[in-house]
Amino acid sequence: MAEQATSLKNRSLRPQPSPSDRRSRMKAVANNLILHLHPTQIPRPALKLTYTWGLGGISTLWAFILILSGILLMFRYDASVERAYTSIQFLETQIPFGSLLRSLHHWSGNLLLITTFLHLMRVFYNGGFKKGRATNWLIGITLLLLVVTFNFTGYLLPWDQLAFWAVTVGTSLLNYIPIVGGVISGFLLGGTEVGQNALRNFYAIHVSLLPATLILLMAYHFWRIRKDGGISQPERAKGEKVEKLTTIPYLVQIEVTAAMLLITTLFLWAAQVPAPLEALANPAHPPNPAKAAWYFMGLQELLLHMHPLAAMLLPGIVLFAIAALPYWDTRSSDIGIYFRSKKGLTIAITGVVFSLILVPLLVLVDEWWIDLPLMLPFLSTLISNGLIPLLLSLGGLAIIYYFLRGIFSATHSEALVGLFTFVTFSLFILTLIGVFFRGPNMALVMPF
Ligand code: HEM
Repeated sequence: MAEQATSLKNRSLRPQPSPSDRRSRMKAVANNLILHLHPTQIPRPALKLTYTWGLGGISTLWAFILILSGILLMFRYDASVERAYTSIQFLETQIPFGSLLRSLHHWSGNLLLITTFLHLMRVFYNGGFKKGRATNWLIGITLLLLVVTFNFTGYLLPWDQLAFWAVTVGTSLLNYIPIVGGVISGFLLGGTEVGQNALRNFYAIHVSLLPATLILLMAYHFWRIRKDGGISQPERAKGEKVEKLTTIPYLVQIEVTAAMLLITTLFLWAAQVPAPLEALANPAHPPNPAKAAWYFMGLQELLLHMHPLAAMLLPGIVLFAIAALPYWDTRSSDIGIYFRSKKGLTIAITGVVFSLILVPLLVLVDEWWIDLPLMLPFLSTLISNGLIPLLLSLGGLAIIYYFLRGIFSATHSEALVGLFTFVTFSLFILTLIGVFFRGPNMALVMPF
């Protein structure tokens, strides 16, 4: 006891660190943290903006703002059917900066979805999934699915008309996933329809399961980048030396400047464009059209043209193929080269042109001229409107692949660039059609 008192006394007598000592100690801690995330040195080419577009870093920033704003929102939000909507109204009107806080959460969530998808495209286009990076590619796919689930579970929480009906449509889509769809939707809803159980389950998943998994997986994703030898780089001739720069200050000053600019833009945007809040949810009055959230509109559009089972299987097969890319495109010599080669860029542009022509054309043809169940009445709709369009779509993708290989004398890797571009842009166009060109009863309309 006496010893403890003496040591405390001695400690208080010890000279206190001067402010400049404290500053340098804080700097040392900050540097230490940075060097846990980054290597001490990085190759100069990796610093070029065009190499990564910083999309993984930007996604990290949005995830950070999302989680921080979400924690603050939890202090006022009430996950009950009777009080959820009023708790949001209270937050928006009575709490200082409450509306801004909600808006920040809303926009950072949407931005995270967009930048994560763009990051996936960047990694694909410069072959960042090659040479031992398959695990991180798969972790990335899981992260993207987590981000979608984050957005989807958050959508219901305001309990307004938009939330209620988008989630009703979204969970009804889940039911069409073979074997597990019904189980997942039953688990999420805690029954058969969107009500108190669903709100409680969505909230629990949104604020505990998803953030914890996202943080853990992100940490693993970052660790793997370093374990895999850093950001992928083009292969160099033996003996060729690449100039290296120290992370502090060269990389860090770019990251801090970019983060400040992005945060300022987000704040300005969120202050001008509040998160939407429609009328209180009314299960008796569906809006017309009842649309899913924007990121599911591509799927909803497919459902208008195919049997639900086919409309779920097609994106499922495409997602599986994208996940399997590291095992499908194993050529490592083109790692770090955008589009694999100059020819690859031409092929990618061809993929964009194909999707711009084919997708709207097929939507129009199916809408106005072709009705397979009517033309083939002797077949069940599962076959006429499901199996046949599914096989035609997969056959069409195969034809595009072989067409690209033949016309451009493309390598397997280059043809996959064209196919991937066609698929991602088709999804983009289907989403645009669903969001802007579908009106009452989901009929095609002009948006202006
Ligand atoms: C929450 C979502 C995600 C975050 C926060 C994140 C973060 C990052 C960061 C910071 C990097 C370093 C390079 C850069 O900034 O581009 C990176 C690299 C990487 N990411 Fe992600 N990522 C996410 C999702 C994804 C997705 C969806 C994929 C692909 C399916 C993916 C696959 C990869 C791979 C393979 C690398 C190494 C790339 C290379 O070596 O060039 N990540 N990620």
